[in-house]
Amino acid sequence: MGSGLPIFLLITCLQVLVIEAVTDSSDLSALNAVKSNWKNTPPSWIGSDPCGGGWEGIGCTGSRITYIILTGMGLSGTLTGDIGDFPELQTLDLSQNKGLTGILPSTIVNLKKLENLFLVDCSFNGPIPDGIGSLTRLVSLSVASNNFNGPIPPSIGKMSNLSLLDLTDNKLSGTIPVSDGTSPGLDLLLNARHFHLGKNLLTGGIPPNLFSSNMKLLHVLFDSNQLNGSLPSTLELVQTLEVIRLDRNSLTGPILFNFTNLPNLSELYLSNNKFSGSIPDLSGKNLLTYVDMSNNSFDASLIPPWFSSLQSMTSLYLSLSLSLSLSPNTHKAQRQYNNIHTLFFCSLG
Ligand SMILES: *[C@@H]1O[C@H](CO)[C@@H](O)[C@H](O)[C@H]1NC(C)=O
Ligand SMILES: *[C@@H]1O[C@H](CO)[C@@H](O)[C@H](O)[C@H]1NC(C)=O
Ligand SMILES: *[C@@H]1O[C@H](CO)[C@@H](O)[C@H](O)[C@H]1NC(C)=O
Ligand SMILES: *[C@@H]1O[C@H](CO)[C@@H](O)[C@H](O)[C@H]1NC(C)=O
Ligand SMILES: *[C@@H]1O[C@H](CO)[C@@H](O)[C@H](O)[C@H]1NC(C)=O
Repeated sequence: MGSGLPIFLLITCLQVLVIEAVTDSSDLSALNAVKSNWKNTPPSWIGSDPCGGGWEGIGCTGSRITYIILTGMGLSGTLTGDIGDFPELQTLDLSQNKGLTGILPSTIVNLKKLENLFLVDCSFNGPIPDGIGSLTRLVSLSVASNNFNGPIPPSIGKMSNLSLLDLTDNKLSGTIPVSDGTSPGLDLLLNARHFHLGKNLLTGGIPPNLFSSNMKLLHVLFDSNQLNGSLPSTLELVQTLEVIRLDRNSLTGPILFNFTNLPNLSELYLSNNKFSGSIPDLSGKNLLTYVDMSNNSFDASLIPPWFSSLQSMTSLYLSLSLSLSLSPNTHKAQRQYNNIHTLFFCSLG
């Protein structure tokens, strides 16, 4: 009886330790506020301890919420300013929740430790907050397939570690921002691998100073916009390039561009523009697998001499004012271009 009390106390203390919530109380109240604007939150979101209680999609380091990954959960609702109240958050991924609508609150810029922001294939609208560039730790910024409108914030240029910039398939307008001494721009993103700006409403030219030899870009995807002017020859300074998509714009002029300097180029989409002059020389581009230059105004000429030297080509689409049509099934075509599986010469003339 005399020794029973300390043991009882010890057990009680252990129980208190186990029951005590792990989650930092300010993170908990931020998450509860965010949750209150959503429907279809995961069934495991019960109780008041996301970190200790195994809330699906919530990751913690110690007591702090560091990950919110709720991909394809069928969430619906809006984001309120509370989304900015997770000072330790590193990854926010709400992708593939079509029911998430409304604006992206400007408090998102308070997530100073954020490294990954994925809001792909939701229904967000309004502008991308101007100040988003203060998320200087971001490595991935992907907001593809929403209804974002307004300009591409120049401040994105301040995200010096950004690798993936994916703004595809929105309603972004205005020009591609480049730095001008006072304002930042995308030319400052020297660690970027991916510029995905396709399927928007971007206008103006492709700025020559967007590209430099210090860049490490693999993909430049600007297709399906309203870009005009000529293709800046500075693009050839980015020797790491593998995929260039400029199709479905209003680009003009001859392509004064030396593709020889892009050793790893594998896909080149130039179709549905107003390019003129001679067909670009692609001789020796042995890694090229896909080329589409159709629906432009290139000079009519015979089969370019570089043509039969391409070794990896699986698809080549040229559309010239030629009365020439080759079937890929003819013996001659098979023999001569036996690595070219699809070969189209369409006559527009
Ligand atoms: C960029 O990444 C490097 C290496 O991971 C890191 O040391 C640096 O602090 C990062 N820069 C910023 C602004 O977060
Ligand atoms: C490009 O389009 C803009 C309007 O979006 C126009 O002001 C500009 O003159 C055009 N530039 C060229 C080179 O056609
Ligand atoms: C081309 O690709 C190879 C293999 O991935 C790589 O080692 C090389 O650095 C690349 N060249 C350039 C200029 O990026
Ligand atoms: C492209 O560059 C290569 C080597 O850098 C050179 O041999 C070739 O003549 C150039 N072609 C054109 C069209 O400037
Ligand atoms: C050719 O490209 C232009 C844009 O330059 C586009 O408006 C037009 O619809 C395209 N034509 C075809 C047949 O695809």
